[in-house]
Amino acid sequence: MKKILCVVGTRPEAIKMAPVILALKKERWVDVRVLATAQHRHLLDQILVSFGIEPDIDLDAMRPNQTLTSLIAHLLLDLDTVLLQERPDAVLAQGDTTSVLACALACFYHRIPVGHVEAGLRTWDMQQPFPEEANRVMTGRLVRWHFAPTASARQNLLKEGVCAADIVVTGNTVIDALLTAAARAPALNLDLDPSRRLVLVTSHRREHFGAPFLDICRALRTLAERNPEVQFLYPVHPNPNIKEVAHACLAGIPNFRLCAPLDYTTFIAAMQAAYLILTDSGGVQEEAPALGKPVLVMRDETERPEAVEQGCVKLIGTNGDHIIEAVQHLLDDESAYRAMALGISPYGDGQAAGRIVNALREHFV
Ligand code: UD1
Ligand code: UDP
Repeated sequence: MKKILCVVGTRPEAIKMAPVILALKKERWVDVRVLATAQHRHLLDQILVSFGIEPDIDLDAMRPNQTLTSLIAHLLLDLDTVLLQERPDAVLAQGDTTSVLACALACFYHRIPVGHVEAGLRTWDMQQPFPEEANRVMTGRLVRWHFAPTASARQNLLKEGVCAADIVVTGNTVIDALLTAAARAPALNLDLDPSRRLVLVTSHRREHFGAPFLDICRALRTLAERNPEVQFLYPVHPNPNIKEVAHACLAGIPNFRLCAPLDYTTFIAAMQAAYLILTDSGGVQEEAPALGKPVLVMRDETERPEAVEQGCVKLIGTNGDHIIEAVQHLLDDESAYRAMALGISPYGDGQAAGRIVNALREHFV
């Protein structure tokens, strides 16, 4: 029996690792252990509950407004202890967070092979997204298996000198999670008027803290005031640098609804109900095209170029005037809207977790 430790730290890691954990648990050759770093607390717990996953180990790492340096320092020390105790045959980590980099480095020092889920995404700009591009690049140098979601992610890894035999193109596990959740998404019970169009908003990137995020909020306020017949819904990320500014700038606008983060199935229902989506999230860029929803991305660069190339995602930056112009255009011009509402899934077919498990089985069994 082999022991595989699956590490999750934040909301998106849990969503994207859940299909892999659940698929591995069906295999007879493997003892699956789940380690929550709990870099996020409430956001992580919300997702784990919704997928019925209970961590075997919990590092409880989140501190209010934690710095990246103190977070990674604590994680490395705690992971050192856990790896010595658990001695797994392999570790799986997902994405580009501080938890992932800490995990890859600790495992490298302990000579434990790591499988990197969602490997090879690149903007080629270390400042965008910050610090995630650097986290993902450094993780890529340390791991044994690269589970790349797309052919272009594979190309990025080859360009960096990764051996082709160590890369498996799997699709993104977020589509596995999305299809499972969409099948059981509840009716959206958020007191919204189904006859009015809905703009769904999310924003939380560190490189936007301060002036860019303030500009985003001012643009949202203007859009809501100019379009009183349109409803806006913004589940606000709990990071204080976001939450405090969002509430100060956007509370009290009659057609603008701020709410706490939604559990996964409710958020999927909100995406399904939305007319368009305005976001700087990575995962939302991948999910919304599969639901046929146009996405305007408030970033200058994306490590997920496929949907931009195929026309269902547009990069609009964080300049307030550009945001207003881009949203207004889609609200006013139905043909421009229809050209983006394609209903294609450039990031996966819902079978990614199975491909990852097959690759691990081939190696270990
Ligand atoms: C992290 C990831 C980012 C990912 C995002 C997903 C890093 C560097 N960043 O950013 O890549 O896109 O998660 O959401 O790994 N907080 C709570 N409750 C929670 C979660 C967070 O209160 O459940 C607050 C805490 O004050 C915490 C702060 O948010 O200190 C920041 O959390 P952190 O994980 O450091 O970064 P995020 O900005 O959430
Ligand atoms: N999400 C959620 N509830 C919300 C907002 C987002 O479940 O209120 C999900 C969303 O469907 C996506 C993931 O969270 O799968 C994205 O997480 P986030 O934007 O925090 O991180 P990123 O993907 O940018 O790293």
